[in-house]
Amino acid sequence: MNLLEISELSVDYGVSGGTVRAVDHVSLFVQEGESVGIAGESGCGKTTVGLAVPLLLPRNATVSSGEIVLDGHSLVGRSEAEMNRLRWKSVAFVFQGAMNALNPVLRIDRQIREAITRHEPEVSKAAATTRVMEMFDFVGVSPTRAKSYPHEFSGGMRQRAMIAMALVCRPRLLIADEPTTALDVISQSQILALLNRLRRDQGLSLVMISHDLAAIKRVCDRVVVMYAGVVVEVGSSHEVLGTQGRRARAAHPYTQALIQAHPDLRGERTLSEGLRGHPPDLSTPLVGCRFADRCPKVMALCRTTPPPTTEISPGHLAACHLLSSGPS
Ligand SMILES: Nc1ncnc2c1ncn2[C@@H]1O[C@H](COP(=O)(O)OP(=O)(O)O)[C@@H](O)[C@H]1O
Ligand SMILES: [Mg+2]
Repeated sequence: MNLLEISELSVDYGVSGGTVRAVDHVSLFVQEGESVGIAGESGCGKTTVGLAVPLLLPRNATVSSGEIVLDGHSLVGRSEAEMNRLRWKSVAFVFQGAMNALNPVLRIDRQIREAITRHEPEVSKAAATTRVMEMFDFVGVSPTRAKSYPHEFSGGMRQRAMIAMALVCRPRLLIADEPTTALDVISQSQILALLNRLRRDQGLSLVMISHDLAAIKRVCDRVVVMYAGVVVEVGSSHEVLGTQGRRARAAHPYTQALIQAHPDLRGERTLSEGLRGHPPDLSTPLVGCRFADRCPKVMALCRTTPPPTTEISPGHLAACHLLSSGPS
């Protein structure tokens, strides 16, 4: 059963002089217990898709089309009060850079406890304290450190604390936006191991937004690749990104370029020479395939007609004219 189903979601940001269509008719699903990665360069709309689920989009954003169904509840158009009830218990969000968003003047255990009592007022302070200690233990921070202030924690420990805070109300779905970005290599590895453990031990479903394909490969069952506000490829991480001993079978030239840009070196973040230029400006209407200007295999058709989505094998889909019409 699908825990989360996003269909034909479009999100526009109002900016001076017009609108930016950050997400354009994006569809994706997450099954119960599944872990799905959203990959793509910066500016492709990954965070916007993630924020749309718990309706945490900035004020200048409008959901212009589409449907988001979480655990059978349709979310788009809900009031803030209704959404507040669903947030935390159904879906929790760890923001990009969240580890720097802890309140510097409050001890960490208190911040997490307040997250519990704010959302579950019926829980006593003693019970909340017990739960905080359990969560500390669970995310691999010694409960003896619970009374620390944020500056006394390393980046990796603050990220663990943020994950603990996101999980205290036992949500079914965690959306983590770039949870390992800005961490050192060892902390990155520990956070990915933690996410895997949460899935295994708690049956948590996960959406992990990351431009780091190695991280997605390690944690996610499936990967959704976004480019310039649209989904260009989706499939199992094994098939699309490869595994040790099996080469990647990415079908879209953009995914192929991303994979080449990310040799499996830990900490490697820069895009290679192979993928020059930038994603297109999303404030003007786009014609044809959005990747055409940067695509090494571009054809005339790509510049005029949006590519249809083709199923390459069960569950592995990509939107590229090469797959539907072959090279001209
Ligand atoms: N608050 C905002 N106001 C205007 N434009 C925004 C805002 N947030 C994001 N955008 C634009 O939306 C597009 C997608 O951004 P984002 O979802 O953050 O992508 P990603 O997470 O893949 O880096 C980008 O072009 C970005 O500049
Ligand atoms: Mg982002």
